[in-house]
Amino acid sequence: MLIHVVAGARPNFMKAAPLCWAAEELGVELRLIHTGQHYDKEMSQVFFDELGLPKPHKHLGVGSGTHGQVTARCLERLEEVFAQERPDWVLVVGDVNSTAAGALAAVKLHIATAHVEAGLRSFDRSMPEEINRMVTDAICDLLFVSEPAGVENLRREGHGENEIHLVGNVMIDTLERFLPAAKKRASSKKLGLEPKQYALLTLHRPSNVDSSGDLAALVEKLDWVQNKIPIFFPVHPRTRAKLKQTGHYEALSEMKNLQLADPVGYQDFLSLMTDSRVVLTDSGGIQEETTVLGIPCLTLRDNTERPITCDHGTNRLVGARGDGLASALEQVLDAPVTTGKRPDLWDGKAAVRIMKQLLAAS
Ligand code: UD1
Ligand code: UDP
Repeated sequence: MLIHVVAGARPNFMKAAPLCWAAEELGVELRLIHTGQHYDKEMSQVFFDELGLPKPHKHLGVGSGTHGQVTARCLERLEEVFAQERPDWVLVVGDVNSTAAGALAAVKLHIATAHVEAGLRSFDRSMPEEINRMVTDAICDLLFVSEPAGVENLRREGHGENEIHLVGNVMIDTLERFLPAAKKRASSKKLGLEPKQYALLTLHRPSNVDSSGDLAALVEKLDWVQNKIPIFFPVHPRTRAKLKQTGHYEALSEMKNLQLADPVGYQDFLSLMTDSRVVLTDSGGIQEETTVLGIPCLTLRDNTERPITCDHGTNRLVGARGDGLASALEQVLDAPVTTGKRPDLWDGKAAVRIMKQLLAAS
């Protein structure tokens, strides 16, 4: 059996890695196809160096552009690879443009296609990821789901029970594998941060960073936060570009208790999450990782496609506008540390379940 796994953007690499390890364990031939949607060293190569990912079988170099441009380049180049090599399965992971393009290219070539992290819905169609999720799930043959809400969403959309498989969370497979090593790194100390006395921040959602008005309001909130607790902020390239265009980068760099940095590698980021007092983010994957780590997470969004992180985990939606962040942060800083409950099947074995299911279906 030959499997192609499509990966292109940062969070794809943490999801593709356990699929590669599981294929190796079960003697399945797997080829990683890198679309090149993310290409900076710290958004791509660093994860190949750290996660034991195989060298990409193909690197398609699609680069950046509008949604249409990136999706179209992925579609055209992936189609060529799939048509030449005719894998038995194509696996697409997550919800980025490379994901939707991979599914579309493979399905139209009548290649069996599966979506890993299927069924998640924010019910917010202004998010590009929501469109990618809906398009991908609508056309894939097998849907591997990480949490029960995803199963309900797929049933409601008319998918049959034979398509839907609740297998757990591949991103947590990666976390489980690297947590012991990450804890030994003590990355916070190396950055001059006191464990449990800093907030870790990431931001990259277009809804938060693309409009200069919203960005200005967020920067003002961050000024308030850094007066309460020091902030470490590894800046996503989209956000860096927007902050620079609007002059806010300089304002942030002048804040005494806010440390700006390039995006960091996976193990350093894991180490930094583990040692933080609180994580502030608009990331999808980080809501899940903090749930498993038991670290309070304040999500700067009005909705989440990962409701289990709020229902069972340590995540709270605080919105990006209004006073939600300030009041939630004060509560977190005052309250004794609370730990959430780890969701069922987030046990480090999701990718093996997926691979066994593919073998059974072939
Ligand atoms: C993408 C995904 C998003 C995911 C995020 C993870 C889509 C629609 N969006 O958002 O779901 O949460 O990745 O990080 O697929 N850039 C660089 N260097 C890079 C990559 C990007 O400079 O290596 C800059 C470019 O200016 C680019 C911009 O970031 O135009 C946005 O990149 P893009 O991949 O389109 O979207 P992300 O915001 O990264
Ligand atoms: N991450 C990382 N370095 C960073 C920020 C995040 O390695 O500087 C990891 C994080 O631990 C998680 C993944 O990147 O595994 C999340 O990716 P991102 O937030 O870019 O995308 P999303 O999950 O929102 O799609």
